Amino acid sequence: MAYINENYLNLNKNYLFAKISEEKQKYIKNNHEKKLIDLSIGDVTLPLTDSAIKGIHIASSNLSKKETFTGYPPSSGHDFLKKEIIKNDYLKRNISIDNNELFIGDSSKSDISNILDIFDKNLTVALQDPVYPVYVDSNIIRGNKIIYINDIKTFLPQKEHIDIIYLCFPNNPTGAIISKELLKKYVDYAIENDTIIFFDSAYEAFIQDKNTVHSIYEIENAKKVAVEFRSFSKTAGFTSIRLAYTIVPNAIMLHSKSNKNISLNSMFKRLKDTKYNGPSYISEYAIYNVYESDKLNELQKNINYYLRNTTLLAEFFKSKGMIDVSSINSPYVWIKCKDNINSWDFFYYMLNNFSIIGTPGIGFGANGEGHFRLTGFGTYEDTIEAINRMDKKL
Ligand code: MLT
Repeated sequence: MAYINENYLNLNKNYLFAKISEEKQKYIKNNHEKKLIDLSIGDVTLPLTDSAIKGIHIASSNLSKKETFTGYPPSSGHDFLKKEIIKNDYLKRNISIDNNELFIGDSSKSDISNILDIFDKNLTVALQDPVYPVYVDSNIIRGNKIIYINDIKTFLPQKEHIDIIYLCFPNNPTGAIISKELLKKYVDYAIENDTIIFFDSAYEAFIQDKNTVHSIYEIENAKKVAVEFRSFSKTAGFTSIRLAYTIVPNAIMLHSKSNKNISLNSMFKRLKDTKYNGPSYISEYAIYNVYESDKLNELQKNINYYLRNTTLLAEFFKSKGMIDVSSINSPYVWIKCKDNINSWDFFYYMLNNFSIIGTPGIGFGANGEGHFRLTGFGTYEDTIEAINRMDKKL
């Protein structure tokens, strides 16, 4: 008989967005006549940009000819795209990244979970609360000890040794950003305490505020301790075709029991070589064509569209006294539930009264109770309709 990894039994029965999807299907089945507006999972609604589509066409044409056909990609992606990412996403911000430090893959979700394979069991990790549930679940699966960061400003210093600190900025789910000064404190702490930072910057393209970072490597010495995760899902609308990348600096060292220093980068390469066959050539070529033909403005246009929706929602909830934000830096709006009801009750309230589906804050952790998240990723028309539906009764 095979035994289960008992840690799986410690997970919630359903992954957050799987549960929401189940509730959505139930509602649709029982309410055929009502148009449901889905502002729950952060999934894009605009089509791919012209330059990305053109890249897909070029890639398929290349694959259709013997002379340009290509098979397995390198496990960390093709150099033609790596060069463009390094140039556009990092060098333009005066950050130098070596080719071997960049790993292109299909998803930040899988990289940020699977990288834990390289670490010893029974780590202590610090996670923000509220938090993207993938960090929680992947650490539960490994049996790691989780301590929660209730207040990012006062959390440090900690007496207990922390192996990994996860930071997500702009934050999912709250949309909060971190000041350079505060992020520097986390980097300095990590250097002093032999801690690694996993910095998820999936939403950096949505940043409007000047006093924050797009990359953790804007902070001095961060390359000694920080791994950065980025995704094209929201930036380029690639939730269906998939593409993401992870930066693992050469300077980060792990220790072995025999007192050797082992580079995390070399182990991440080893992990990728063993478990993955690299990113899809078609997805790579799609984004390559965006960079190469200098069409980042097309992506920005779509991001601005989602930011406009997010701003409309934020202004609406501000007028209802349910939110207090000064700037929008993410596609998410994090609100207080009406009349202090709990977040699942508010979920059903929104669903049953307005046919609007959002995400209950409790799904992101204990501190999310009494909160609710909506996304700006709907269409403009649906966002306006959602606001009109709520306006009279909320
Ligand atoms: C979210 O809604 O939090 C995200 O879309 C989930 C994800 O990126 O996996």
